[in-house]
Amino acid sequence: MNVTSICCIGAGYVGGPTMAVIALKCPNIKVTVVDINEQRITAWNHEDLDQLPIYEPGLKEVVAEARGRNLFFSTDVEKAIEESQMIFMAVNTPTKTYGEGKGFAADLTFVEKCARQIAEVATSDKIVIEKSTLPVRTAEKIKEVLSINTKGVHFEVLSNPEFLAEGTAIQDLFKSDRVLVGGDDTESGKAAVAALVSIYSNWIPKEKILTTNVWSSELSKLASNAMLAQRISSINSLSALCEKTGADVEELSKAIGMDHRIGPKFLKASVGFGGSCFQKDILNLVYLCKYYGLEEVAEYWYQVIKINDYQKDRFAQKIIDHFGGDLTGKKITILGWAFKANTNDSRESPAIYVNEKLFKAGAILEIYDPMVSKESIFSDIDFYWEASKTEDLKAWISVLDSISTLDLSIDATAILTEWEAFKSLDFSKNVVFDGRGILSSSTYSIGKG
Ligand code: NAD
Ligand code: UGA
Repeated sequence: MNVTSICCIGAGYVGGPTMAVIALKCPNIKVTVVDINEQRITAWNHEDLDQLPIYEPGLKEVVAEARGRNLFFSTDVEKAIEESQMIFMAVNTPTKTYGEGKGFAADLTFVEKCARQIAEVATSDKIVIEKSTLPVRTAEKIKEVLSINTKGVHFEVLSNPEFLAEGTAIQDLFKSDRVLVGGDDTESGKAAVAALVSIYSNWIPKEKILTTNVWSSELSKLASNAMLAQRISSINSLSALCEKTGADVEELSKAIGMDHRIGPKFLKASVGFGGSCFQKDILNLVYLCKYYGLEEVAEYWYQVIKINDYQKDRFAQKIIDHFGGDLTGKKITILGWAFKANTNDSRESPAIYVNEKLFKAGAILEIYDPMVSKESIFSDIDFYWEASKTEDLKAWISVLDSISTLDLSIDATAILTEWEAFKSLDFSKNVVFDGRGILSSSTYSIGKG
């Protein structure tokens, strides 16, 4: 099959960068990224590349080259479906907040809506690709939804999970550790897999493109995230023991990571992991295990979340304890709101929880993040904090626009994101709580006694 036209439903952190890189590497394929969020599409089409909706190092250069050539952003979902041979679904799959599986299972409403729209609109055969992270056996449901099509269209459903990490998305896409494609072991299934593999083969070495059955592919994505998060919770749990015993968690990570069977990555102790996926994907895994009656397995993975909550809480409590259990009237500078450096994303950022606890203990907060806007910070507070009303909070919480206006002489500073710019600030006379282990000395640093 000669693929010349593809589209992606969902122009978010995955759909945008992934399709931009496919367009860059495959100039003969027309790539259309569509979204129902008009504001997002307008930002993707903005002349000023600093206004793209997502901050990712290297992204604007890729968009600059491909946009208008063979990369297009649009709100016309139906037209894109009709015109494309392949349709990637990269919509959000948050944790369910209602009904069966509430608080654990992935909410598949957005994916199901996409599938329904594809079924209603398609008049020619399509390859439908699960790019979103989905529970194992979702392809079954998608096929069921697609079967409502009445125009005799044949749909092939593939799983092609995305493994990019925010902040390094473009490099991750250029040099993926692996590309995973799951498909059915039928004639048409194999042809669809081959068509997708042919796209990635334009820049990914053949030996890094792994083909499996659909269920292995779907489950590998959840399992990969769970294993990565498990390493962080493992080292974070040990950071508490380091603080009791005089061991230094950085030395521990180095010593452990030098064993080539373990490896050095994802052993950085921190205030806890954040981001839109680790927590939701593990909760989803826990739900699936319970669904299949595997209580012990569910409990095992749930511990990863519990340690992460414990770590965020422990960090905030250290600050509160330093001031004798009460922060009333204490001014605390918060450095970083994003869940990690080099992204403007703050979904599930540990900063949200830590700041809520500090605020409840009486603190006055002055927050600075180089990439997360004031609006996003207040919208996180509104959304995540219990019973908060942003307007009432503004007397107690301020967000600074520039690093030059930081006042480090106030009662304490807490580092919550490892932005490079924070490493060179002079904290020599300050009370500093380092939640990211970026300073050589501080009042308190995770895992140092
Ligand atoms: P996102 O929220 O940034 O983007 C999803 C987009 O889909 C939104 O812009 C939304 O408006 C759009 N959308 C939802 N329903 C739609 C519909 N019916 N039609 C058109 N557009 C629709 O989400 P994301 O971070 O890009 O994640 C997407 C998926 O990829 C999730 O399943 C996530 O778990 C997975 N994933 C994310 C990352 C990451 O780093 N963010 C990495 C790997 C995998
Ligand atoms: C993660 C995975 O790394 C990606 O492979 C996956 O595709 C993605 O989730 C997803 O499915 O969404 P991401 O969440 O963007 O990517 O970023 P990570 O680099 O994994 O960091 C996640 C969190 O863990 C951050 O808060 C980070 O600060 C924290 N972390 C990471 C640590 O605390 N210690 C570490 O050693 C590494």
